[in-house]
Amino acid sequence: MLIDLTPAHGPALAAFLADFAAAGEARIPAYFSDLDWPIERVVDAVSAWARGEQLGPGWVPCTTWFFEQGGDLLGVVNVRHHLTERLRHFGGHIGYSVRPSARGRGVATALLAATLPRVRAMGIQDVLLTCDPGNVASRRTIERNGGVLEDEALYAPEGKVVRTYWIRG
Ligand SMILES: CC(C)(COP(=O)(O)OP(=O)(O)OC[C@H]1O[C@@H](n2cnc3c(N)ncnc32)[C@H](O)[C@@H]1OP(=O)(O)O)[C@@H](O)C(=O)NCCC(=O)NCCS
Repeated sequence: MLIDLTPAHGPALAAFLADFAAAGEARIPAYFSDLDWPIERVVDAVSAWARGEQLGPGWVPCTTWFFEQGGDLLGVVNVRHHLTERLRHFGGHIGYSVRPSARGRGVATALLAATLPRVRAMGIQDVLLTCDPGNVASRRTIERNGGVLEDEALYAPEGKVVRTYWIRG
């Protein structure tokens, strides 16, 4: 189930972030808050970004939801409200991460499936996703949700090859 983060999720968020740290993943795609922020600050920031406030340079308004099961946070998804030239080729509309201990059992596939109707409700019909060609799990997650490969090309500003997919509404 996709949920909005609330101050009551403090311990669950701490466990979620600790799971990435224990696996040695220093950067968590789709989670942008400082790892040391108290829960109130994270909740404030997430809601400000969705309103288009407190955005960092080059950011667009974005909405963040967590995938919750049995009181645990298993995944996070970030939806960008519109594309920039950069997001068009690198990042797309949606980014997601699943905590390492919950991977390989369908969480990302379910998370993306639950996100798509919400994205459509936000007025985005054709949804762009991008991923690294070597990220087989992300590729499969996108393909399982109806993603059609548009291109696999070098994105020169990052010096990286990126696959772009559309899930059309
Ligand atoms: C990519 C990621 C979100 C996938 O999460 P997940 O919950 O493990 O994915 P799922 O269990 O839903 O699996 C999705 C598909 O990938 C496959 N898969 C999962 N892990 C895999 C792996 N390590 N190698 C190959 N395929 C894998 C699954 O078999 C499934 O395919 P199938 O439906 O054809 O069987 C997760 O690995 C992650 O958080 N990675 C770091 C962040 C990231 O890369 N985010 C995406 C870019 S924004």
